[in-house]
Amino acid sequence: MKQMLIAGNWKMHKTFTEANNLAKQIAEWVGSNKPKSEVAICPPFPFLYSISQLLNGSKVKLGAQNCHYEPEGAFTGEVSPSMLSSVGCYYVILGHSERRTYFHETDDIINKKILSALQFGLNPIFCIGETLTERQNNQTFAVIEKQIQNGLKNIALNQIPHIVIAYEPVWAIGTGISATVDQIDEAHKFIRNLLVNLFNEAGRDILILYGGSLNSTNANEILKLPEVNGGLIGKSSLDALEFTSIIEFAEKSM
Ligand code: PGA
Repeated sequence: MKQMLIAGNWKMHKTFTEANNLAKQIAEWVGSNKPKSEVAICPPFPFLYSISQLLNGSKVKLGAQNCHYEPEGAFTGEVSPSMLSSVGCYYVILGHSERRTYFHETDDIINKKILSALQFGLNPIFCIGETLTERQNNQTFAVIEKQIQNGLKNIALNQIPHIVIAYEPVWAIGTGISATVDQIDEAHKFIRNLLVNLFNEAGRDILILYGGSLNSTNANEILKLPEVNGGLIGKSSLDALEFTSIIEFAEKSM
């Protein structure tokens, strides 16, 4: 059976009350519908602790959207992986294209973050994906390969099961235009082959999520693809009904 993970990336949205209400609605839905797919939500930092309390006893996993690679120190405004673990985070999104673009995160920085997150017991959701120019210049596969090789440098084989990959073509994020089924199928098969080449059998079990304007209208055909193990969802994770209807499609695609 295909393993599926549906993860919501709330980005910089919601107030404290709104965030807690949304988390509660999702947890209640998961509690009564008992999906086989794993469900995770990644709220902004200030809401993590209260949502972690709220999710106590729920199957919904908590994730953060970023972290620093240092365990602690004089890094004003930053949050360490151990802090995230200490408030109940299970996942952390790393290498998101918005971090790469607006905060100048390089493959090297992302690799340090992944290694540090693993060390502190977090499971990185490692984002990769090409820009529109890179796709138009036929560089998609070279870019994906480089991001994976650099991002997963020095990862021990026993840490591989803790990694989730999210393929997110930059041009599909937040644009309302997802990649086509064929483009996603091709990219995910390429990523799977690469992971198997790099990590042998362990590479076969790594979850590969698709992200980029995934919604309840396109989820059915995208989640059915053989190498798609779920989605990293931005906009459509901000509404409980929309998000849970995507989980329903994930259930049908297992
Ligand atoms: P989107 O965002 O679903 O709003 O395109 C996805 C993401 O950035 O993870």
